[in-house]
Amino acid sequence: MSDRLKEFNQGDNREIVKVLTLDDFDLKDKTVFLRVDMNCPIDPDTMEISGTKRIEEAIETIQSLEKSKVVVASHQGRVGNKDYTGMDKHAKVLEKLLNKKVKYVEDVIGSAAQNEIKNLKNGEVLLLDNLRLCAEENYEFSPEDAANTIMVRRLSKLFDLCVLDSFPSAHRSHPSIVGFPQVLPACAGRIVEREVRNLDEIMTVAKAPHVIVLGGSKVPDRLEAIKLLIQNGRADHVLLTGIIGNVFMRAQARIKFPLGIKREEEVVAKAHSLIGEYPDVFSTPVDIAIDKDGERIEMDVREISKGDKIYDLGPKTVDFYSKLIAGAGTVFISGPAGFFEKKNFTYGTKGMLEAVANSMATTIVSGGHLTSVLKSQGLGEKINHISTAGGALVLYLTGEKLPMMQALEEAAKKHNR
Ligand code: 3PG
Repeated sequence: MSDRLKEFNQGDNREIVKVLTLDDFDLKDKTVFLRVDMNCPIDPDTMEISGTKRIEEAIETIQSLEKSKVVVASHQGRVGNKDYTGMDKHAKVLEKLLNKKVKYVEDVIGSAAQNEIKNLKNGEVLLLDNLRLCAEENYEFSPEDAANTIMVRRLSKLFDLCVLDSFPSAHRSHPSIVGFPQVLPACAGRIVEREVRNLDEIMTVAKAPHVIVLGGSKVPDRLEAIKLLIQNGRADHVLLTGIIGNVFMRAQARIKFPLGIKREEEVVAKAHSLIGEYPDVFSTPVDIAIDKDGERIEMDVREISKGDKIYDLGPKTVDFYSKLIAGAGTVFISGPAGFFEKKNFTYGTKGMLEAVANSMATTIVSGGHLTSVLKSQGLGEKINHISTAGGALVLYLTGEKLPMMQALEEAAKKHNR
């Protein structure tokens, strides 16, 4: 058993968790299932991968497995969304980064995938197609039920070891994450190891006031986490941006018309009840920018009218939020502040990142999108911890034990040799 201790439930409620790492296994000649998170931003016009950071991150663990037969597996997007694609382009990027051949099969659990896995030789790397092509991977399961899925039953017999390295999906109890470790020896990959170590160090020294800057579009996930962050003393001020900012403005009746987003009434009602419960915690934008035929028009929130496409923060909001960030002890920022992929609407996202980078606080930047903007600004050096994980990291900070870490902990107990 590795003596690497991983501490969870930071703050008053600590719990020590032991997981195995790659250093605990003889990897030579082994066939390894490596779950990574190569869920990348996809340009909606060209359908090309527009940020490869998560693929770059996967390299270290793949290289640590150079004496094994490595089967790399990831999801991409969500079924029905524009960024739900196959993994052929990811295979090409991976091949370039590894500077060696990467086999790719347009299959996940069928005979084509199984034959490719059986024929692998030491040192070879095979990328499976998007795991979410397999229906089961789109549902959350208990670990026992996940072990009983067709995916895990069919594939697990072909592997000697499961390596979990998809920290950005550590909050999902999907079969590829919690199922394989039930039936196979399992350990953390290098990304998971590094993330947990760094976050634990940072959260041990994190000071109040805790300022959270929350944006992006995964609103239901964020709403779940906000309450826990507040309750666990991790969010003294929540500065809202992006689509979640719009939802809160609607809940405050400052936006008076529907936004046209999924599950709108449900999320607006939740935001409304959070504001009622914690009236002093939330800040929402005072001005925004809309898109009018490709042009950026800035306006006060009171001037927004039905049908306006709210794509960014305005300058007064960036100024107001920057002052709150400057007074923070710890700042955590997750999710873009607007439609930063469009060149007229990067202002808010860049402004928030600049404020975070210039603050004296302990700083964490989270999520694939923000990480790539930060890189383009050259501000990475000024941030204490940068993680491509979004929702998983938000939940980690709440002190919740993530399904992936739980699966690794159970596997370490079970397969302790
Ligand atoms: C992410 O980008 O947050 C992870 O890849 C998880 O994706 P999901 O929210 O679609 O499960």
